[in-house]
This record gives sequence, C-alpha cells and structure tokens, in this order.
Amino acid sequence: MDVAKALSLMLTNEGSSVQYQGLNLIKKPGIYHCGVPTISGTGAEVSMTAVLTGPVKKLGLKCDWTVFDQIVLDPDLIASVPTDQWFYTGMDTYIHSVEAITGTKKNTFAEAYSEKSLEMCREVYLRMDRSDPKSDEFLMVASYMGGLSLTYSEVGVCHALSYGLGKVLEMHHCIANCIAFDKLEDVYGDYVQEFKGMVKHNKVNIPQGLAKDWSEETISAMAEVAYNLPHMWDHAFGPDWQQVLDRERIKGWYRRM
Ligand SMILES: [Fe+2]
Repeated sequence: MDVAKALSLMLTNEGSSVQYQGLNLIKKPGIYHCGVPTISGTGAEVSMTAVLTGPVKKLGLKCDWTVFDQIVLDPDLIASVPTDQWFYTGMDTYIHSVEAITGTKKNTFAEAYSEKSLEMCREVYLRMDRSDPKSDEFLMVASYMGGLSLTYSEVGVCHALSYGLGKVLEMHHCIANCIAFDKLEDVYGDYVQEFKGMVKHNKVNIPQGLAKDWSEETISAMAEVAYNLPHMWDHAFGPDWQQVLDRERIKGWYRRM
C-alpha cells in the first residue's frame, strides 16, 4: 500500500523519491489511487505517509496528497492472514495508538481515535475468538482508527527503534515493533504489560535474545538510524529530548532485545 501511494506521487513529481522523504516536500498531487488492504494494522490504508527505505534512511513521503483517494475495507480479505502475521500487524495499530496519545503532540483528535482503536484491539486480542466473523471487522476498523490517530500526532520510541531494526537488519516493520515494544516498559508502562497479556492470550511468539548475536557495530548502526528521527523523539520526550536521550540510551534498549 505504501509503494502504491508513493508510486502515485512519483508519476507526477520529478526525480527520485529520495528527495521527497520528509514532511510536505512533494510539489504536485499524484494520480488517483485506490487501496484495498488484505492485511490490517499498519493503518497504511488511511495514513498520509508512504514509508520508503532510502539509501540513508527509512522515512515517509508525508503530505496531504499521499492519502488514498478511495479505500475498500472488506474483512473477508483478511480472513486467511496467518496467526503470527495477524498478531504482529494488528499490534502496529495498538502501538500507533499508544504512541499517539503518550507523547507531547497528543491532542483531542488523536485521543478520540486512539482510545477507540485501543478498545477494539482489546476486543480482538483479549476477548474475541478469531473464528468470530466480527473479529476481522473490528481489526479492520481498529487499523483505520489507529492510522487516523497519527494524522495530527506522531509515533514515538518504539517506532524509532523499529526503524533501526528495519533499516539495518531488514526486519519487517510489524514484527520489529513487537520486538521493541516488548522491552519498553520503562517508557510505556502498563501498555507493555497489556501487550504481553495479548501475546500470551494468543500464544504468539515474540523473538527474544536477539541482541546476543548483534555486534557493537550493528547496535551502533541501528542506534544511529533511530537517533536521527528527531520528530519522533521530540514527540516522545519534548523539545528538550536531547537532555534525556543519547545514543547510549538507545543502544541500551537494543541490547535488551
Ligand atoms: Fe507502524
């Protein structure tokens, strides 16, 4: 879905997509594009970001024209998603919602969507059985709401760490988020406890002990990617984030994974 959104823009904007990675750098609207998700959780169907991996960073093309002109949400299309992927991807919307409302850019709009998305995630991952046909409907709408919660807010610590895992180890976004969020109790407290409850309830495996196979060089490279996402740190810790965060603290989080 992100590639489709980026492609729509790159058909009308000249040069390489690399030059447009950031906020409002796109010059012209893209072509009409329609999204039909076959997996739910990332919020890509509704977000104004098309995340791309470039030569130096993994960062979105973000502007009003990125958003799909039309979307089709049909829960039948996500019914066959394998359980692990269903969980990891669904947790992306849970984490979007948590990050949107725990940072300095939180606002009433973000809170309204986040709270509804969190409530629906709790239904899907703690109360409903996946065989209940309503559960896929709930997840699809939770993904949509979690995506919208970011419109005027931001992601935070988990996504910054996840981008490091993605860029350096080519780890997929949603499992990388789960691996990072699992170790962020010092930042996201009760939400991490709740996440662990969902992991347990659904008997899903979150990879552990990965850091023992990572060299210092790898950890430093990931920390560098994460550190260079100031908009996320600004949201998570405020404009003076550099007073509470340095590369060593980021490396500490990676070493726990
Ligand atoms: Fe995400």
